[in-house]
Amino acid sequence: MNASIAPHVIDLRSDTVTKPTAGMRRAMAAAEVGDDVFGEDPTVNRLQAVAAELLGKEAALFVPSGTMANQLAIRCQTELGDEVLIERGSHPFNYEVAGAAAISGVQLIPLDGRRGLLDAAQIAAAARPPAAYLAPITLLCLENTHNRGGGSVYTLERLTAVSEAARRRGLRVHLDGARLFNACVATGTPAADFARCAESVSFCLSKGLGAPVGSVLAGPRQLIARAVRFRRMLGGGWRQAGMLAAAGLYALEHHVERLAEDHANARRLAEGLATIEGVLLDPATVETNIVVFDIAGAGLEVNTAVARLAEAGVRLVPFGPTLLRAVTHLDLRRGDIERALHLMRQVFRAS
Ligand SMILES: Cc1ncc(COP(=O)(O)O)c(C=O)c1O
Repeated sequence: MNASIAPHVIDLRSDTVTKPTAGMRRAMAAAEVGDDVFGEDPTVNRLQAVAAELLGKEAALFVPSGTMANQLAIRCQTELGDEVLIERGSHPFNYEVAGAAAISGVQLIPLDGRRGLLDAAQIAAAARPPAAYLAPITLLCLENTHNRGGGSVYTLERLTAVSEAARRRGLRVHLDGARLFNACVATGTPAADFARCAESVSFCLSKGLGAPVGSVLAGPRQLIARAVRFRRMLGGGWRQAGMLAAAGLYALEHHVERLAEDHANARRLAEGLATIEGVLLDPATVETNIVVFDIAGAGLEVNTAVARLAEAGVRLVPFGPTLLRAVTHLDLRRGDIERALHLMRQVFRAS
């Protein structure tokens, strides 16, 4: 072996680390393009049409990131001074740098879910009747699958009940489906059925689906027309984005069904981790491609654990005072998972 070649690093930090496959790169290189600010990029237009159809919505908009999709959904469906119900662990509440306050001027009201999931009774209790001295609650944001919940999945039944509870009280619903297709593959539920529970739905092409960049926001035609305006305001009006849209189309065609492989790898990883002394997790809770585990009993502080694991060749992210997160994805095979487990066993045994 050539000693100058760096050892293979198994990158479990996120499903966003994947590189475009050879087939995807060919599709990107061959994409027909045009200026999307003029609405003239045929590949972007095709992606938007395909996504709208897939989600059963009137229209869809290709945007640079999941964060922008969520922020546009909030901006388009609220007014300054509104309140928005949201799960405490959700992406907009934790990782969108207070965008909802800065961009939309709304107050997020966090509700505590179980593994990130809310139930109808919580919505009924939180969505109090309007009064002149209270801010109107106008939107509920949900996340399926739920990242901080450990890739947990809303079943269609539960999502429908939560959504109906919100709608009965006059709230609109936004579904952050950054990993919606993981939920679809895990449950066998079509994306359009989940999407019916919300006015606006977003999904990411750049996560489990393996595209380098891009997310989609879908909803009624009028809402998407408003989103075009605010996307532009945020600097997201892009030009020959067709090469990125081609990657998205390729991902939707080739990388949805295979998410089942990531889920099986995550379950195997969880089963292996559960046998390591000092590591706490119940593999039965791993429903999709995210594995969150507790190392409180392993004798290593999380950042030290992350550093030692990285030195050994496995990359993960800290996810709480004693929690680590590992995410399986397109660039990892079963052999990588077994090797990661071997290396993790060594690191935790040495501690
Ligand atoms: C549930 C969820 N929503 C939204 C996002 C934001 O996506 P992006 O990183 O493309 O802004 C993420 C990113 O990790 C996510 O996990």
